Amino acid sequence: MTQTNTTDNWPQVRQAAIEQLPAQVVEFIEQCARQPHPESQLISVLHKVQHHCGYLGEMQLDAVAQLLQLPHAKVAGVASFYHYFRLTPRGKLIIRICMGTACYVKGSERVAERFKEELGIEFGETTTDGMFSLEPSRCLGTCGLAPVIMVEDEVYGHITPDQIPGLIEKLMVQAQQKQAYETDSQAPNRK
Ligand code: FES
Repeated sequence: MTQTNTTDNWPQVRQAAIEQLPAQVVEFIEQCARQPHPESQLISVLHKVQHHCGYLGEMQLDAVAQLLQLPHAKVAGVASFYHYFRLTPRGKLIIRICMGTACYVKGSERVAERFKEELGIEFGETTTDGMFSLEPSRCLGTCGLAPVIMVEDEVYGHITPDQIPGLIEKLMVQAQQKQAYETDSQAPNRK
């Protein structure tokens, strides 16, 4: 699917596009599209979509391209160029492993390796069940607890590789609860 509202089925194309995005995001994009240079709004639009959808998937990128009347390749190119845009869904919980100096000298690399092994993913990836993403982090400001990881707002200190399987089990319960809560709260509509 590519853009252009010169197509004679524009109402259907627009409808298909807006179904991919929350109503307030569609409203924002359509405001941008009415401005003289909609392409200059592209980064703001992508930020907004990511903020509401969590990531920029193919369907969302295509919807943006349609509604802003820009080539899909341009939208996808900008989304993939900037590291702060995520092109894949994130897990229910983000496990951040501090790779700062204090943590590094206390073994954060071994902690990271064990997480990768247990979860079957690398940094920047999400488990196939969508529960966990793994990310490296700069100093989390709690060097006295090194090595440190952070999950949501909670800091876990003095982590050893052997603690990780048990910790993942505990975090799985938390991730499932979060998923159930989100499913309940999003059930009526996606606005
Ligand atoms: S280096 Fe890890 S918390 Fe500071």
